[in-house]
Amino acid sequence: MASEDANSNSHLDQSGQLPFVVAITGASGAIYGMRLVQFLMEVNQPVDLLMSKAALRVVKEEHDLVFGEDFKAGLLKHLELPDTVPLRTHSLTDYGASVASGSYRTRGMAVVPCSLGTLGAIASGLTENLIHRAAAVTLKERRTLLILVREMPFGLIQLRNMVTLSEAGAVVACASPGFYHRPQSVDDQIDFVVGRVLDQFGFDNRLFKRWKEDSRPIYQASKKS
Ligand SMILES: Cc1cc2nc3c(=O)[nH]c(=O)nc-3n(C[C@H](O)[C@H](O)[C@H](O)COP(=O)(O)O)c2cc1C
Repeated sequence: MASEDANSNSHLDQSGQLPFVVAITGASGAIYGMRLVQFLMEVNQPVDLLMSKAALRVVKEEHDLVFGEDFKAGLLKHLELPDTVPLRTHSLTDYGASVASGSYRTRGMAVVPCSLGTLGAIASGLTENLIHRAAAVTLKERRTLLILVREMPFGLIQLRNMVTLSEAGAVVACASPGFYHRPQSVDDQIDFVVGRVLDQFGFDNRLFKRWKEDSRPIYQASKKS
């Protein structure tokens, strides 16, 4: 890890941008995470992507997609993206990965979707896999950490975990699409949620029609997810 982090400029992509950390965990709604990655690739934003084992299972249940340990290849194929996009993936047991260190500068981290299990681990400070560690690092470095929880209803333990994370500086969000933008499809609802996630990090996006905006969105990335 030391040599990887020795030159701080090595954190920058060729485009000169800091990478963004995305984690997809085993809550329902893997499509939110895949759509987020798809958008970020289409705007050439470098991403470090982590996927839990449970997320791989959910992807199979929800999309009939069987990604192996090397989920990058399968994901790129599914999203119809070339392997030249600025996407790095990491094994969840690799605590020597770049994202495990606070000296690896990032634009922040989004856990999309976030299972109650990962919520509890992060809120407790556990680092049983690289997602938990990267989230802990993001918090201690005072970078933006967004948790998109998906479950209903919530029990007291989960509600307390959300309060804990909010008090620690995280942005706690729910995968709850609005309807005021008059969604015409499930894709519209997904884009509403993903667009609001991107908003938290200052990523300019027109994935959904904003309140009081007169026109329909002018930017719409292709929808392969
Ligand atoms: C099809 C499917 C859907 C699931 N949906 C949810 C969910 O919406 N929210 C949740 O917290 N857990 C959900 N789970 C359970 C988690 O996958 C499980 O708790 C797992 O341990 C989470 O591990 P992870 O946090 O490492 O991804 C689901 C599991 C499956 C197989």
